[in-house]
Amino acid sequence: MTDPSFIIVAIDGGAASGKSSTSRALSEKFNLLHVDTGSFYRTMTAELLRAGLANNDCAGIATVSQEIDFDTKLDGRRAQMKINGRVVPDSEIRTAEVNANVSHFAAVPELRDALLAYQRGQVDVARSHGFRGLIMEGRDIGSVIFPDADFRFFLHADPIERARRRAAEGQTDSITERDRLDRTRKTAPLASPDGATDIDSTFLNLEQVVDLLSEKLRDRLPPTT
Ligand code: DC
Repeated sequence: MTDPSFIIVAIDGGAASGKSSTSRALSEKFNLLHVDTGSFYRTMTAELLRAGLANNDCAGIATVSQEIDFDTKLDGRRAQMKINGRVVPDSEIRTAEVNANVSHFAAVPELRDALLAYQRGQVDVARSHGFRGLIMEGRDIGSVIFPDADFRFFLHADPIERARRRAAEGQTDSITERDRLDRTRKTAPLASPDGATDIDSTFLNLEQVVDLLSEKLRDRLPPTT
């Protein structure tokens, strides 16, 4: 029997808008599987760069992507993508080179298609490991991956505040340029989906954002902590 109380939470937003910290905190609080799809696009970008592919080589990207064997490894409540049996570590997917290329690769429809079923399949991973639901973050989760999600949120923050957050993490990243590319691409552009709850976190700390979202979730799911 599948659990009817299982919930799907979609969180979209621009780079460094607070999606990951918020999703991580909510996954702990409500026992949800945390799926960071940005890390999937980063993993694929690192792999495609290693294969020597240019970020506009759609045919090459399609061929290499289709040959990859995808799987998931759990790290606590976080889903890590395994490609061809390996989890590509953060040290390889959060480099300046990946930061500079990921939005270009992510704009290629063939790559997005190759990841679609894998992303939706995380529901089965969550259910089979006894999670009470799934929280998935990205750019097109509430619009394309789970348009019927139980909860859909879109996080905003002022670009200067977002750049400050990324710099505090010690990362070299042109977040406004990535947002521009993500917003203007033809397939699954970054946008707040119709009916999503928009939250501007510029003047809110993490706890305040988590509290706001928790208020909504707890109507459906009592927190475990
Ligand atoms: O969340 P992030 O900044 O790590 O994501 C890296 C890039 O991946 C982002 O600039 C665009 C792409 N991405 C996407 O196109 N769709 C998603 N669902 C998640 C990320």
